Amino acid sequence: MRRAARFVTMPVNMTPESLRQRRARIAAALPLENALLLIGAGFPVPLPEGSDQAYPFRSHAEYFHLTGAECAGGVLAFDPRDGASAGWRSFVPLVTEAERVWEGRTQVAGTPLADLEPWLAARRGRPIAMLGARVAHPGCDEEISLRVREALTHARRPKDDHEIDAIRRAAAATAPGYAKLREVLRPGVTERALQIELEAEFFRQGADRTGYGSIVGTGSNSAILHFEPSARAVQAGDFVLVDAGAEVGRYVADVTRTYVAGQPTAFQRDLYQVVLQAEERAIARCVVGAEWKAVHLAAAEDLVAGLVQMGVMHGKPASLVEQEAHTLFFPHGLGHMVGLGVRDGSGRAPGRVKDPRLSLRTLRMDLPLAADYVLTVEPGLYFIPALLNDPARRARFSDCVNWPLVDQHLHLGGVRIEDDVLINSSGAPEILTRAIPKRLE
Ligand code: GLY
Ligand code: MN
Ligand code: MN
Repeated sequence: MRRAARFVTMPVNMTPESLRQRRARIAAALPLENALLLIGAGFPVPLPEGSDQAYPFRSHAEYFHLTGAECAGGVLAFDPRDGASAGWRSFVPLVTEAERVWEGRTQVAGTPLADLEPWLAARRGRPIAMLGARVAHPGCDEEISLRVREALTHARRPKDDHEIDAIRRAAAATAPGYAKLREVLRPGVTERALQIELEAEFFRQGADRTGYGSIVGTGSNSAILHFEPSARAVQAGDFVLVDAGAEVGRYVADVTRTYVAGQPTAFQRDLYQVVLQAEERAIARCVVGAEWKAVHLAAAEDLVAGLVQMGVMHGKPASLVEQEAHTLFFPHGLGHMVGLGVRDGSGRAPGRVKDPRLSLRTLRMDLPLAADYVLTVEPGLYFIPALLNDPARRARFSDCVNWPLVDQHLHLGGVRIEDDVLINSSGAPEILTRAIPKRLE
């Protein structure tokens, strides 16, 4: 049996008119000049072992954003000479009898794909930019494509009302999952059982799927950044780190909470408070015009200042961060953009090159924040043996760290707290995931 593909023809709450407006806004932002644009949806990827199954199909995000369609083989074309609205044409494959019989697929509205070649032939000699999944047509201009992709990514960064609504729905489906998980969290429950309760509640509350592979790490597993839940059972006193979010209409929430099973020790409580405070302070800094690099570095300094106060690190926070000593305990960036996928629109502002500073090595974004951006703020502090047992790091940072204290906590795990925030045109951001409590109880 072939897996049935789900065919969405319009994202949550979107009308043909709002899609037209979105396309017109994007068209105005693309440096195409005389070039044509083809955006491919892509094709299902078959499982390798010939089981007549494919990985769940999703149209490429660049295609989905401008069509709202899950349409394998679809191509969205644009000719800027025909105008920002009239220039768009959606070419779709005709659904076959086998697809109707096996998958219940229905015809996606659009121009038959067979008409794409004549559409291109009528425009012969013009350069072609290709985005989305690669379209099987010769003559892609790689240089223009790169430029146009950079502009498209940037134009997609501010989320429109439909997108924000979808992210709100994803957040609304996520919150009850965390509440459910809290109910069942106790010593003896496995990471896998926690994942099942969490995800089942996401689905009951309207999720189409999870936004990414759910992370549930207990004890020392909580320090493995992208840990997959295992059969390990929670032990009294464990940190339990949960990083999971629902997806609704292709838009995702990306949330992390860390709990302690039972009574936290003073050390655990302090570590948690350092991360929580760094998170809250970082969120408050997420205002229009703030440089993400600066927000990241300020959070790194807050985290390091907390570790200095706890006696884990020695020195001046700013200097420790400059030496990248913070990456011993905070080895990832402060966050990323989120929306149509879990890394939607991240990267650098147009024209920027990678900042060579050591302290910024782990950043996923380098841009000034603007109204209607949605991004995660997710500081964390972890005891990661793979980093902390490295002799080169121990030598390099011998004076910066209280190594005997680190050795006592080498298997403690870690704390991360992550919320999704919407940048407001003025003032503090809105925390879209605020319904999920983050007090250590
Ligand atoms: N959910 C994975 C991350 O936050 O990067
Ligand atoms: Mn996350
Ligand atoms: Mn994240």
